Amino acid sequence: MASFLSTQPYKGTRDFFPPDMRFQRWLFDRLRASVGSFGFEEYDGPMLEPFELYAAKTGEEIVNQQLYWMMDRGDRKLAVRPEMTPTMARMVASKVNELPKPVRWFSIPNVWRYERPQRGRLREHWQLNVDILGGDRLLADAECLGVALDIMKRLGGAEHVSLKVNNRRLVDHLFTKELALSAETALAATKAIDVRAKVGDEVYAKMLTDIGISPAQRERLERFFKSTFAEVERDLPCEGVEELKALFALMKESGAADQVVFDPTVLRGLDYYTGTVFEAYDVSPENRRALFGGGRYDDLLGLFGKTKLSGVGFGVGDVGLRNFCEVHGLMPELAAGVDVFVSLPKAEYRAQAERVASGLRAQGLSVVTPLAVEGFGSQLKQATKLGARYAVLFGDTELAEGKVLLKNLVKGEQKTVTLDELLGAHAVPAPIQRNLPAWW
Ligand code: HAM
Repeated sequence: MASFLSTQPYKGTRDFFPPDMRFQRWLFDRLRASVGSFGFEEYDGPMLEPFELYAAKTGEEIVNQQLYWMMDRGDRKLAVRPEMTPTMARMVASKVNELPKPVRWFSIPNVWRYERPQRGRLREHWQLNVDILGGDRLLADAECLGVALDIMKRLGGAEHVSLKVNNRRLVDHLFTKELALSAETALAATKAIDVRAKVGDEVYAKMLTDIGISPAQRERLERFFKSTFAEVERDLPCEGVEELKALFALMKESGAADQVVFDPTVLRGLDYYTGTVFEAYDVSPENRRALFGGGRYDDLLGLFGKTKLSGVGFGVGDVGLRNFCEVHGLMPELAAGVDVFVSLPKAEYRAQAERVASGLRAQGLSVVTPLAVEGFGSQLKQATKLGARYAVLFGDTELAEGKVLLKNLVKGEQKTVTLDELLGAHAVPAPIQRNLPAWW
C-alpha cells in the first residue's frame, strides 16, 4: 500500500488557515497602528545571517541549544534568525552616520528557536521588535514601556498586564560589589537565575553551587529577589537604583505608574542588556510565559566597529498575544472580508455581471463572482457563507429597465437600483480608511 505524507506541519510550527490569517492581520494591523502612532518606521532584514552574529551576544542558551543553522554550498555557517536585535544592530551600524537620531524602528519578523513546544512557546513565531537608538536614555526607556502599554490598550486588555522592571546595573552592583563575584561568575549566575522558573529550584541551586556560589551568597541573592524597591534603595544605593527611580517618576508622569512594578527577579537571558530590563506578564495564571521582553543595550553596536550608540527595545510575540486575547475574551469576530457577491443566474448575464463586478472593484470593494451558473437560492447561500455584506441580483424585469436588485445580507433588506446608481453613487458604502480629527 502506498504510504501517504503527513498533513501535519513540522513540530512546533503552525499552518495559518484563512481564519488564523485573519486574526494575524488584525493583530499586526493593531501593532503597526500602535508603533506608527509613536512615529516608528518599519525595516526588515534577511532570514539568514552569519552564525557569528548570534555567537557574539545573543546568549549561550539560544546559540548552543536553540539555533537552526546550516552550512551553505560555499561552506559558510549560517543561522536562521532566532531574534531580530543583532540584524537591527548590524543595519543601524552600517548607516550610523546617515540615520537621523534618535532612530525609531520596528519590524515584525518570523524568528526560529529550537525550543520544547509548550503553551506560549513554539519553534517559530512572529515577533514585533520595537527599538530606539539614541536620545536621552531614560526618556527612551520610558517611551518603550509606553509603547508596550499602548499595544495592550489597543488589544483591549491593558488592565490585564503588568510590566516588571529591573536594572542590570543594579544587579551587577550586587554581584560585583556586595557578593564580590568575578564578571564571569556574575554572567553565569545571571543565566541560572534567568532559567530558574524553567528548570526548577533544585537544578537552579546546583547551577549556582557549580559556579562556586556559597550558601551565604545564595541567601543574600534570595533576600535581594524578595526586596521591595524601598529596601533596594536603602541597602544597595547605586547608579542602577537611581535610573530605576527616575524611570518610575517618568512613568508616573505618563499616567502609567500603576502598571509598572519593580521586580528584582527579571534579569533577561540575552547577553547584550546593560541597563533597564523589563518583561510584561499576563496577570492570568493561564499564560505564565512573558508576553514582552526587552531592555537597554549600550555596547551592541560596538560589535561592528567603533560606533557608540546606545539603544533600548523589546520584542513581543504573536503566540503569547493570541493566548492573551483568547483568555481575556478579546478575540475579534472577523468576517472573510467580501463586500459584495455579484450573482450569475444565467450565462447570458455574464457580460453585465462582469461590468458590475469590475465597476465595484474600481470603487475599492472586494467582489466575488460565482464560477458556475446557478439559481438565486444556491447563490445566496454561497454569498452568506462567504460573509458578503451585499449581493447583486439580476432579475429579468429589473435588467430590462437597466436595474438590479441590491440585497443587504446583514440587514436582510433589498432595493432596486439603476446600474448608474450602483456603480456611480456609492450605493454600497466603501470601507472607511482613516479617521482624521476635525481640525485636520
Ligand atoms: P525575548 O525575550 O527572547 O527577547 O523574546 C521576546 C518575546 O518574544 C517574548 O516575550 C515572547 O513574547 C516572544 N517569544 C520568544 N521566544 C518565543 C517562542 N519560542 N515562542 C513564542 N514566542 C516567543 C528578544 O528576542 C529580544 N531580541 C527583544 C529585544 C528587542 N530586545 C531589544 N530589542
